[in-house]
Amino acid sequence: MTTNHIGPDAILQKKLEYLIPCVYHFYKKPMQIVRGEMQYLFDHTDKQYLDFYGGVSVMNAGHCNPEVVEKICEQIRTLQHTTAIYLTQPMVDLAEKLAQITPGSLKRSFFCASGSEANDGAALLAQLYTKKNKFVATRQGLHGRTKLTMNLTGLPMWRTDPNPLGDIVHIPGAYCYRCAYGLTYPRCDLQCARYLEDVVKSGDFAAFIIEPIQGNGGIITPPPEYFTIIRKILDKYNVLLIADEVQTGFGRTGEMFAIEHWNVVPDIMTMAKALANGTPIGAFITNDKIASSYTRPGASTTGGNPVSATAALATINVIKKYQLVNKSKDLGSYLKSKLLEIKDKRRLIGDVRGKGLMLGIELIKDDKTPAIEEIDNILEGLKDRGILAGKTGVSRNVLTFQPPLVITSDDVDRVVDTLDDILSGLEK
Ligand SMILES: Cc1ncc(COP(=O)(O)O)c(C=O)c1O
Repeated sequence: MTTNHIGPDAILQKKLEYLIPCVYHFYKKPMQIVRGEMQYLFDHTDKQYLDFYGGVSVMNAGHCNPEVVEKICEQIRTLQHTTAIYLTQPMVDLAEKLAQITPGSLKRSFFCASGSEANDGAALLAQLYTKKNKFVATRQGLHGRTKLTMNLTGLPMWRTDPNPLGDIVHIPGAYCYRCAYGLTYPRCDLQCARYLEDVVKSGDFAAFIIEPIQGNGGIITPPPEYFTIIRKILDKYNVLLIADEVQTGFGRTGEMFAIEHWNVVPDIMTMAKALANGTPIGAFITNDKIASSYTRPGASTTGGNPVSATAALATINVIKKYQLVNKSKDLGSYLKSKLLEIKDKRRLIGDVRGKGLMLGIELIKDDKTPAIEEIDNILEGLKDRGILAGKTGVSRNVLTFQPPLVITSDDVDRVVDTLDDILSGLEK
């Protein structure tokens, strides 16, 4: 251990004493992370980790990407913060850039500091535009930690609010591996999507909010017809579609935004995480018509600050320059095909799903019940061998890969071979 680092034990002690206990961490034997370099992280002993979780789908351009860091440093030395009451250029340049890269007529942005704040703002905008109060969300969705977004969240683990809000209905998501209706795709005729009509036909709903691929829900990936059916129902009852792209945006799934896989344009799209490659930011974007309903003053003190906006512009530039969206698509297909190969021989693997470099492996016992203890052993085993992965899912049994988009095919081979080896050990 270098002398500058206090080490994991001392960090754990301070954490226990000074942090609110809700702030949890991974691993029985956690390490102190001290440095990052593209797809790698390093701990206090200088051990290298191949990061296949990317700070939970944030570091799409790689840890401390030199081209992003350089722009951030230049900006922070020049002008860090003024707030939006003064005119600065990076915020409007970023808004223009987002209008260019988001689908359809999405054009007008509002900047804030996190994904929760973006979803909260998107929900407010939907209420202002439709003059309706109610929302539909999904049981497997996660949308944030503010009062409203925690209630839009369906995942039980993240619904801590002791006094839940009314006016929010949660419907089953397109979780085909464990269908809420006990049906099988395609014979199901997408009952999960069609059920939305039963809910919104009362006419008092402002919006349906959904992640195109549900990240924390366990990389739940709807079938090809899902969003077309959803869009039709919402249009029929004048309910807005809010696509929460906080986790899926900026090349993560092999398209710039995941909703593009389904060829549907949302009314409002929210983003955060990878937008500025780890610099705190959040945003929602909508079309001219919907934006025109939000004219009363709205501001977020650090929203659109020059450093975060510059970091976002630099990140988008790197994603474009190095064709990281295509890379995500190609390496994601390669990773998925290799995972499907080992699925055939490893009974712990129940399902492999996702798109691009947003993939999940649902781990099961022989009777298809969630393999909850096993996933912790797998995560710990991967970490000991220098690989970081994630854990998601309603039952927290989905091993999740969301690496920086700068990985190589050798990295994919290493992860799959190591995982296969660990699984074979567990299955003995
Ligand atoms: C899909 C999704 N939406 C919203 C959020 C909340 O974002 P933040 O943690 O930046 O508030 C998250 C966070 O994990 C998320 O995954």
